[in-house]
This record gives sequence, C-alpha cells and structure tokens, in this order.
Amino acid sequence: MGLVAATAEEKSTVWSAIRRAPRRAPVSFRHPQLNLRDHSGNPAGMNPVASAEGPAARPAGPEAPPQIALLQLITAGFAAQAAHVAARLGLADRIAAGVRDTSALAKALGADPATFRRFLATLASLGVLRQSGEDHWELTAMGECLRGDAPGSWRDFARWFGCDAHYAAFGALEDSIRTGRSGFAKIFGESSWSYMARDRETGLCFDRAMSSVAASAHPLILCQYDFAGIETLVDIGGGQGELLSAVLARYPAMRGIVFDLPHVVEAARTRIAAHGLAGRLEAVGGDFFAAVPPADAYIMTNVLHDWNDADSIAILRNCRAAMRPGGRVLISDFVLRPVNEPDIGRLFDLEMLVLTDGGKERSEAEFAAILAASDLRLTRVVPLGGVCLIEARPA
Ligand SMILES: C[S@@+](CC[C@H](N)C(=O)[O-])C[C@H]1O[C@@H](n2cnc3c(N)ncnc32)[C@H](O)[C@@H]1O
Repeated sequence: MGLVAATAEEKSTVWSAIRRAPRRAPVSFRHPQLNLRDHSGNPAGMNPVASAEGPAARPAGPEAPPQIALLQLITAGFAAQAAHVAARLGLADRIAAGVRDTSALAKALGADPATFRRFLATLASLGVLRQSGEDHWELTAMGECLRGDAPGSWRDFARWFGCDAHYAAFGALEDSIRTGRSGFAKIFGESSWSYMARDRETGLCFDRAMSSVAASAHPLILCQYDFAGIETLVDIGGGQGELLSAVLARYPAMRGIVFDLPHVVEAARTRIAAHGLAGRLEAVGGDFFAAVPPADAYIMTNVLHDWNDADSIAILRNCRAAMRPGGRVLISDFVLRPVNEPDIGRLFDLEMLVLTDGGKERSEAEFAAILAASDLRLTRVVPLGGVCLIEARPA
C-alpha cells in the first residue's frame, strides 16, 4: 500500500501505527559513544549516553513495518535539524541552569512562546526533553548530552552538522554521487578547508566540533592503548591539542607536538598554555603534504578519512620519512564493517564524499593497502567501540 494511494481508513491505520512504532534509535549503529559498555568495557558514567535513560533505554524494539521505517528515515532530517537548533540555542544549557518554563525559555532564547512550545514538544517526542508539568521541561539523559559542559557533549557536533555551510553542502549529495566530487566544492566553489580558513565563524564551529569529538574519544584511546616508551608523539592534524594534552597528562615523561594548519594551531597554543603543558607540548603550524616534524610516534585521529588514497599515502609517507627508528603510526578512524551490517561509519563515508575532495571511510583491508604503499605494515587494530585505533610500524 502506498501512502499516496491509501484510503482515509488506511491512512489512519498507517498514522496510528507510526505513532505506536518505536523510532529506530541510533543505538543500532556502532558508534564510539553509543555502545560504550558493549564495546569498550569502560565505565558507563564516562558518558551520559550510556546511562539507563539514554538511547539504550529507547531500544529500536521489534522492527517497524517497512513503510513506517522508511517514513522515519525520510523525516530523520527534521529531527536532526531540531537537535541542531536546540544545540545552537544552547537550550540544554538553559534548562540545566534552571530555566524550565516555556515562557521563560522562550524569553531567554528570543523565541515566540507558542511556537517554542511546539518545538519543545517535538524535542520531547524525540526523547531529548521530558515534559514534567504543564509547560515545564526537563532534560532526559539524551538531552543532557546537548549541554556544553556534559562529559562527551555532542552540543558542538550538533551545531556543526546543522550549520549553514554543512547543510548546504549536503544538499549537493546527488551531484556528489553522480560525479564523485565534493558537494561542498560544487556549492561554494572551493574546498571546505579553504572555505573554513576564510570564514572563521564556520571554521571555529568545525574546530569546536572536532575538539568535542576528541574530548570524548581520548579517554577511550588512553584506556585501550599503551603509549609507554614513546618519547615524542606528534598529533598530525591535531586540531586544538586536546588529545595530546590528555596523553601527556597520563605520561609525564612524554613530549608532544600538535601539528596542524597555521591558523588552527593558533587556537591550540592558547589551550596548551591553559593546560599548563607549555614546557612539553608544542604547537607547530605547517602542511602535512610538505613535511612533518621528526618524532618516534605519530597519531592522527579523523584525518585520513578526509583524503583520497594518494593523498593519504603522501601524509603517511611523510610520517615514515620523518620517523625515528623503531617508530610507529597510530590512526584513529572508522573501520568499515561488512556491507549489510548496521554501521554509522557508512553515514560518515557519505559525509566525507560531500565535504571533502576524495575523502572516504575505509575497511581494514583498505587501511592495510595504503599503509603498505607507505612502507608501513598494519600491526594491530584496537577497537574503540565504533572507531578503531590502527597501529602501523615500518614494513
Ligand atoms: C577532521 S579534523 C581532525 C582534527 C582532530 N585530529 C580530531 O580528531 O578532532 C582534520 C584536521 O586536519 C587539519 N588539516 C587539514 N589539512 C591539513 C594540512 N595540509 N596540514 C596539516 N593539517 C591539516 C585540519 O585543520 C583539521 O584540524
């Protein structure tokens, strides 16, 4: 039965079934934060998503009928944009600060109260908020993750995914699929990197999103990988230096270099000083296609998926060339699961298609191939509950 051709009676059956049907919760995807207890063995308290009231408590349940599941998929963008707007407004931070009434929230956030109530009710239906009295709202465990100060906060990530440039670029997905070229470049006439270097509001939005990912990923990396014996670790494309700050805090004898584009490391320098690591942690601006600083280990998180194989090999070869004897490379990225398996990495593969010029997520075999072409051999794959840490040593 098609929705368009359905009779009124059939439609009412469909809509009531939709209301009853469980939303396909994101917990069905493999993600570093959504399956912490299942995959990492780390304490659930590290991230509120893993707590009893999070998505884990809203299981997908029995599969919804296909027509309903498809409708939920088709409208998933509405929900994503609602989460984005909530993040952009800082709604969760306001509620956490004690502003709970519709009118007070609307006033604080500059919204029309009646319209805002509809918005809040939608967020409640999505499990982000809970109505706790007439016009009184609370955060659910999922909503807590939209607070800027929550451990493992997704607020800045949600702001990035819904920001104008990102949203517009995804509008060119069809063109990307037809041509294999970046939707971002199609819409804006330049790469996302040069756009963000120029438009610093968008660039900072992206940098903050990456920092929040790093902040939630680094406890997993530290928990699952032993960095002992590394004297100098370079974080290639290290953004604002969160990961190295965490690693150096755990390993007091280690020195670190955050290596990133010059305009990005400017912000890193301020953060490094704030962490009190200025003596051991250096921020170096440069181009990883030209050269990278000498060290005995290199780590790159969420970097290689931005680049096609030839570019990735160029980055890896520069690490190999600068590497001291006995060195290693550590790569944290999604490792794609076999086709047909639920895998949020596949959605990020589309993200790479749209946003970058040739970037992609890779399977373990594909990582092994680009490493081999860089005179490196894949020695270990450490699962981090979604993304993996790949270790490679000289071939
Ligand atoms: C997706 S971000 C990852 C940031 C960080 N590693 C993380 O996981 O949050 C990719 C990083 O690569 C940096 N980058 C891009 N092109 C670069 C280049 N040619 N040389 C050095 N860094 C570059 C970007 O500025 C950005 O910080």
